[in-house]
Amino acid sequence: MRQKLVIGNWKMNGNRAANTALLSGIVAGLNDFGAEAAVCVPAPYLAQCQAELSGTPVAWGAQDVSVHAGGAYTGEVSAAMLQDFGAKYVIVGHSERRAYHHESNELVAQKTLVALAAGLTPVVCVGELLAEREAGQTEEVICGQLQAVLDLIQPEQVANIVLAYEPVWAIGTGKTATPQIAQDAHRFLRDCVAKKNTAAAAGVQILYGGSMKPENARELMAQPDIDGGLIGGAALKSTDFLGIIQSV
Ligand code: G3P
Repeated sequence: MRQKLVIGNWKMNGNRAANTALLSGIVAGLNDFGAEAAVCVPAPYLAQCQAELSGTPVAWGAQDVSVHAGGAYTGEVSAAMLQDFGAKYVIVGHSERRAYHHESNELVAQKTLVALAAGLTPVVCVGELLAEREAGQTEEVICGQLQAVLDLIQPEQVANIVLAYEPVWAIGTGKTATPQIAQDAHRFLRDCVAKKNTAAAAGVQILYGGSMKPENARELMAQPDIDGGLIGGAALKSTDFLGIIQSV
């Protein structure tokens, strides 16, 4: 049975004061819910997470990682630096980075490998554009995004990644995928993973991201292949984030 996992992706939001209130609200509201919880924050705030979340059930992580181990790469943050601040997760291949930073499937695969080598858990994001869905290209697109990662990592490493299906047309739009649309994509992704490592495929957590809210989370996470959520907007209010976690 896969453990449910809810990760908040703060994106480039927050400040020290707001983060303190948000983090303490999440910790205070957590009970023995059936889900793991984590927040992925802008890198400067990893220190704040380490201070506020150490010793609590809430993990933390980053939203990107450099493929380089160190050196003259201005503005980049290495996996070792994330490790320095107790990061457990790192999001790789988010659609916003694929779009704004032109991150290729191959670069995302390399970032996945770097994260794994550092002992981080990569949250590998895949998802199609509306035009690609409307053209019937969803499976071709998300398979290509995932396959680049599966082609680079070893079969035994499959067990150490988390996947996130984030249809781009649902991110930040309020147009959440229906539970069936999401389940179909998750099932397809799990079948793709099974071709690399059948045993691990059953255990890989596949999160849904794209306007998951407290009011729709339960129906989505009741689907057999939806193992949690990667939450944007609703992660910025502790009551909403907890509401999703409680929906498990
Ligand atoms: O990474 C999660 C994010 O892309 C989803 O954003 O605001 O639609 O929950 P949102």
